[in-house]
Amino acid sequence: GAVTGFPSDVLTDRLQRALGAAFGPEYADVDPVIRPSQFADYQANVALALAKRLGSNPRAVADAIVTHLDVAGVAQAPVVSGPGFVNLTLADQWLADRVTALAADPRLAVPEQEPLVVPIDYSAPNVAKEMHVGHLRTTVVGDALARTLEHLGHRVVRQNHIGDWGTPFGMLIEHLLEVGEHSPESELLVSDPNAFYQAARAKFDADEAAGGQDFAARARRRVVSLQAGDPETLRLWHELIELSTTYFNSIYSLLDVTLTDDDLAGESSYNDDLPGICDELERKGIATMSDGALCVFLDGFTGREGKPQPLIIRKSDGGYGYATTDLATIRHRVTDLHADRVLYVIGAPQDLHLRMVFAAAREAGWLPDDVEVVHVQIGNVLGPDGKILKTRSGAPIRLRALLDEAVARAAAGLAESRPDLDEEERAVIARQVGIGAVKYADLSVAHDSEYTFDLDRMVSLMGNTGPYLQYAAARIRSILRRAEEAEAVAGDVRVGEEAERALMLALLGFAPVVVQVGEALEPHRLCTYLFELAQTFTTFYDNCPVLKGDDLDVRASRLTLCRVTLAVLDQGLGLLGIAAPERM
Ligand code: ARG
Repeated sequence: GAVTGFPSDVLTDRLQRALGAAFGPEYADVDPVIRPSQFADYQANVALALAKRLGSNPRAVADAIVTHLDVAGVAQAPVVSGPGFVNLTLADQWLADRVTALAADPRLAVPEQEPLVVPIDYSAPNVAKEMHVGHLRTTVVGDALARTLEHLGHRVVRQNHIGDWGTPFGMLIEHLLEVGEHSPESELLVSDPNAFYQAARAKFDADEAAGGQDFAARARRRVVSLQAGDPETLRLWHELIELSTTYFNSIYSLLDVTLTDDDLAGESSYNDDLPGICDELERKGIATMSDGALCVFLDGFTGREGKPQPLIIRKSDGGYGYATTDLATIRHRVTDLHADRVLYVIGAPQDLHLRMVFAAAREAGWLPDDVEVVHVQIGNVLGPDGKILKTRSGAPIRLRALLDEAVARAAAGLAESRPDLDEEERAVIARQVGIGAVKYADLSVAHDSEYTFDLDRMVSLMGNTGPYLQYAAARIRSILRRAEEAEAVAGDVRVGEEAERALMLALLGFAPVVVQVGEALEPHRLCTYLFELAQTFTTFYDNCPVLKGDDLDVRASRLTLCRVTLAVLDQGLGLLGIAAPERM
C-alpha cells in the first residue's frame, strides 16, 4: 500500500524492503506483522511467520531481516528479542517532528481517500410509531459512520428508509379522520405516536370483535383507495407522514444527528418499482410460483427440516412485502445512485432477511461483484433483566423520555459540580453531556453485540464514557485558557519525559484509527482509542507540569501537546457525533 507517514506504515515499508533484500523480491510484500510492544514502541513478528517457509529458525530469520533493515532517522537500531521478534523504537526526533507537523495540520494526518459513493441506510423508524432504543442505536451508529466516511473524503448518501407504507395505514387514516386533522389527538403523532397508534388499533380490534362491519370495514376500503392512488386518501396519508417526520426530526435535533428531510427515502418511494422487480425476477427464471406466492429460492438457505427457505416477493393476495422493497433499494442504490459500497445499518435479527436479499440481488444482476454491500449489524439493547429494554408494563420505552432523563441526570450532576456557571450555560452543557452519554454508550460497544442500557453508568464521569472524554477535553481547554492568560507560547515538540513520549505516540495513532473505522465500519475502535488517549494525557499531565516549569522550550512543547490532544479529542468526538462542551 501507499506510505502514509503513519509510523506503522513507514516501518512496514522499511521492513518490506529488508525482506526483499534478505530473501528475494517475492518476499517484498509479505506483511511484517507490526504490533505494539511491551518492550519497544512496536515489534515485527514476521520472522516467526516466515521461518517455516524459509526452512530456517525464527531467530536467524530475524537476524537476517535486521541486517538488511534501514530505519536510519526513523527508529533506533532494531533489536531482535525472544524467539525472533524485531523490536523497534522510534527515534525521538522523528517522533517529535511528526507531532509538530500534526499541530499544523487541520486534518491531523487523516488522509482524504479516493472518493467512493456510499449510500448508508440507517435510522429507518416507522410512521405513527414510537422510535425505540433499537432505532436509537442504528441512528447513532449510522450517523457516526456517515460523518467518518465523509471526513475520509467519500460521498455519503444518507437513506432514511422509514416505514411509511402497508395495511395499517388504512386504520391510521380512518382514525385521523375521526379525531380530526388538527386535533389534540392527531398532535399525538408528534408528541406520543404510540398513543395515536394504540387508539387506532383499539378501535380496529373492537370493531373486528363486533363483526368488523364498521371501522374495520372502512379501514380495509381505505387501504384499497390508498393503493389505487385516490387523491384525498393520499393527502391524508401525507398528513400522517408529515406529523411523523416532525416527531422524527425533533428526536434527530435533540440527538444532534445529521439526517434531514432530504434523506427520507421511505418504503413507499419504491412502490412503482415493485411490479417490475417481480417481473424481471420471473423473466430471468429466478422467481417461481409456490403456493400462489412468487418466491425466490436461493442456494444455501434452508429452513426447518432442511426445506428450502423462500424469499417471498409477491404474496398470494398480490401484495408485496419487505423483501421486495429491499430488493428495490439495492437496485436503486446501485443503478441510480451509482454506489460503490452500500451500508445497511440495521438490527442484527434482520441478518437472514438481508443475506437473502443480497444473494437474490446478485443473482438478478442488480448487484455487480465490484459493489460491496454490508449489513452493519446492530445488537439489541437490553434492560437490567437481560431482556430487550421495555417498561415494566411491557410497553416499549419512550425514547424521548429516556433522552430527557439522561439530560436531567447530567443537569443534576452539573448543578453540584459547577454551581458557578449560570443556568443557561449549564442547560446547554447538560444537554451535550446527557445526549453525549447516551450516544457514546451506543458507540463504544461493538455495534453487533448486545449491551445493557444503564443510565447511571452512561452519565458517569468515570470509566469509558462520553462524559469522561468530554471532561478530558474541557480540562485541556481550561489549561489552554490559563496558558493564554499567562501569555505562554506553544512551539515545536520535543521528547523529554517518558509520559510525553507515550502521549506523542498516542497522538500519531489517531489518523490510522479513523482509517480503520472507515474500513471495518466499527466506531467503537475510535471510542477505545479516544479513551486510551485521554488516560495517556492524564498520566502526562500528572507527571509533566505544563505552565509551572521555567524552561520555555519545554513549556512550548507541552503546550503543543495539549493543543494537539484537544484537537484530536474534538475531532474524534465530532466524528462520533458527540459535542465537546467548552467547560464542564
Ligand atoms: N423500518 C424497519 C424497522 O423499524 C427498519 C428498516 C431498515 N431498512 C431497510 N432497508 N430494511 O425495523
